[in-house]
Amino acid sequence: MAMRFNDDFIDKLRDSNDIESVIGSYVELRRRGRTLTGLCPFHNEKTPSFTVYPETASYYCFGCGAGGEVINFIRNIENLDFIEAVKFLADRAGIKLPEDNFDDAASNLRRRIFEANRDAARFYHETLFTEQGKAQLDYLMRRNVSPKMIKHFGLGAAPDDWHALENHLKAKGFRRDELVAANLLRYSDKNGKRYYYDAFRSKVMYPVIDLRGNVVAFGGRVLDNSKPKYINTSDTPVYKKSNELFAMNFAKNGNDRKLILCEGYMDVIALHGAGFENAVAGLGTALTPEQVSLISRYADEVALCYDSDEAGQKAVRAALSLFSKTGVRVKVIRLEGGKDPDEIIRTHGKERFAKLLSNADNDTEYKLSVIRSKYDVETADGKVNFLREAAAFLATADSLERDVYAMRLSDELGVSKDAILQQIKGAAKRDYYRKSKNQFNEAQKKVAEMEKSVDPQRVKNMRAARAEDIVLVTLLNNAEFYKRFKDRLNNDIFITPVNKRIFSVLAARFESNESTDISHLSQSLTSEETGAVARLLAKHSMVSNTPKECEDCIIVLEEEKKKRETPSPSQMSDDSFLAFFSSLNKEDN
Ligand code: CTP
Ligand code: MN
Repeated sequence: MAMRFNDDFIDKLRDSNDIESVIGSYVELRRRGRTLTGLCPFHNEKTPSFTVYPETASYYCFGCGAGGEVINFIRNIENLDFIEAVKFLADRAGIKLPEDNFDDAASNLRRRIFEANRDAARFYHETLFTEQGKAQLDYLMRRNVSPKMIKHFGLGAAPDDWHALENHLKAKGFRRDELVAANLLRYSDKNGKRYYYDAFRSKVMYPVIDLRGNVVAFGGRVLDNSKPKYINTSDTPVYKKSNELFAMNFAKNGNDRKLILCEGYMDVIALHGAGFENAVAGLGTALTPEQVSLISRYADEVALCYDSDEAGQKAVRAALSLFSKTGVRVKVIRLEGGKDPDEIIRTHGKERFAKLLSNADNDTEYKLSVIRSKYDVETADGKVNFLREAAAFLATADSLERDVYAMRLSDELGVSKDAILQQIKGAAKRDYYRKSKNQFNEAQKKVAEMEKSVDPQRVKNMRAARAEDIVLVTLLNNAEFYKRFKDRLNNDIFITPVNKRIFSVLAARFESNESTDISHLSQSLTSEETGAVARLLAKHSMVSNTPKECEDCIIVLEEEKKKRETPSPSQMSDDSFLAFFSSLNKEDN
């Protein structure tokens, strides 16, 4: 990536976007001495391993390795590229961007896609009220969608025409390749010719809007019972369907930190229409960890509102398991009197839904009811077996919850509360050893997998990688070490690609006497590489910062380099083996 902003501008940007308050608006941070900690927004966790270092204006998560400075944080949490993140922070602080033209092909395309989507949404919405959108409007009316909700969600109509949108947007100056990138236009190649056509035709259109108000995608519903029921925008440079939630742009505001998660567009629209403005839905995929993480940023409680059929209940179980890794409380709404919220509200009114919502089981109740349904609790045998499984399940609950449910089960089954608690305790003990072992193994596996995928060389060369880390940390902390060891420091002694990259950027900056502050480095590094610098800074307390320490590690790297260059004895000729052998002896004394 080419240099785009000068250091002074980046300094100004960093200083007027205090990392503590920027991150603090996404993550609840607690002060712990000189650092702040909180639950990592980039992976699901229950105990905080996400750390903010105000002194270096950086952050690092010891759980998942995410790290960087304030720009990188915004990049990742808002899903932006570097320049967009800079703009975001400049806006936030009311700073003007430097005049220079910092055009960048990728962010230019993203901007064009946002613009095309916005114009397409407007086109579809306006078409809904013309002759070409009559069938779509009738459909929405039939389904009781009010004009107010049609406006609110910007619903629209894709006309029965292969080129209506293409012609409309081309007249506005959009190029075909931009519309293809936005997934508004598709093409097929026949007889050496390329034919373009509108992706959405004869559909009721639901625009998907991201948290910052950009139209990022569309869902288009057929007007009859034909299949597939929906055509959706596939992933584009501005949209990843596994990361978004329909209506989250509305629901994130004033929701008392409670959300309703339902299955489809229509459910959400019916709920918002009935005043439940905290309803959201996935976008045609099973619930993903990214969506769960997004929800946990805005809610402490989520009510699952899935179909009562087999598929819906399977989805509930999967969601419970995803949410159990977060601090979000889960309630399960039992949809009685209709197959989905849309139908319930239409046939029984919104009061009925409100009642179902307030009666919703929390996840413990729900799971107990699932266990209960497996046994015939009228028989002694069934009762014992139900209790045994219920106790094993309640072993995972905290002591207050155990107490509450032991009491309820005692009432229900006529068994003493103490006996039930005893049973739970026993199950907990048996569980404990097995669980902690599993958890440890799992965590180890995850870190190893991540290291391997991000930096495969690192795992293979741990000794060198550790020495590299210390060399880089001591250099970051002591610019004068660079001058001192310059002759022995070069790209070749680094083996892991990430550290090699960081070193070359550092060296170039040392050579021209520029700052090596992480905010300045980040401009020349990828998001992952910036994360690696943050990891180094986070570990800075582990080094003593003496020239000797730096030099010792350079020696290790020199040794490792020599090892790499020396063929193993089995590959050598007799002569060179003898030479190698005598050099070994020389080193020994
Ligand atoms: N979905 C999809 N593609 C399909 C079917 C469903 O992307 N072929 C997604 C849509 O996001 C849809 C959600 O899954 O909103 C739920 O599906 P379903 O309950 O079948 O659709 P509804 O939105 O409830 O539609 P309707 O009530 O109009 O049948
Ligand atoms: Mn439906």
